[in-house]
Amino acid sequence: MEIEIFSTKKEASKRAFDIFSEALADGATVFGLATGSTPVDLYDYITASDLDFSQATALNLDEYYGLAADHPQSYATFMKENLFNQKPFKETFIPNGLATDVTAEENRYNEVIAAHPIDLQILGIGQNGHIGFNEPGASRDVETHLVELAPSTIEANARFFDHIEDVPTKAYSMGLASIMKSKKILLLAFGEAKADAVKAMVEGPITPDVPASILQEHDNVIVLVDDAAGSKL
Ligand code: GLP
Repeated sequence: MEIEIFSTKKEASKRAFDIFSEALADGATVFGLATGSTPVDLYDYITASDLDFSQATALNLDEYYGLAADHPQSYATFMKENLFNQKPFKETFIPNGLATDVTAEENRYNEVIAAHPIDLQILGIGQNGHIGFNEPGASRDVETHLVELAPSTIEANARFFDHIEDVPTKAYSMGLASIMKSKKILLLAFGEAKADAVKAMVEGPITPDVPASILQEHDNVIVLVDDAAGSKL
């Protein structure tokens, strides 16, 4: 793992943008994307740039179970509003939150990933060390699956909804095994609330208690943090 610490989120996001641009220039065509507040500045840099993604493919990590793609809080809507409307990709994929045949949806998304091996995967990290929606305890061998969200994740994500009861309790997520297949991984973490998770991911033992710690075993991971998120390293 390569760790870079910046004094501000903005500077770290600019560095993330530069890594993204280099990957595109070097021939990357499949980008794994994340939602949440963390990558928003990166997406702002991308939309403000003249980078061309008309030949590129985007695969998102996860989607809330039970939300339609056009629901205001779906991750499909988040991606359109923050990136795809301004910067069209050739094709974009995200799990279908309304799919009720769970096995069929897991298989469908695994086939999407197999057909589009990810060149560069963007990740955030949850306060509990989750990546995608792989919560503590997640098996390293699992690919796309339906996850029961941890109470702390529901609480952390309640800020995007009117009431905590509106936050879905389940989500489809790429699994740790899917994420580990990415050729390169760029993880971003900002703010003091992420400091413990970042320390455990980087310096702690590789354990299912901290799903992000498995990234220590990947040979091409860059972690960009601001001072606050890196304060316990
Ligand atoms: C969410 C997402 C993750 C994201 C994380 C952190 O629940 N499923 O992909 O990285 O939590 O969110 P934020 O960036 O808003 O702190």
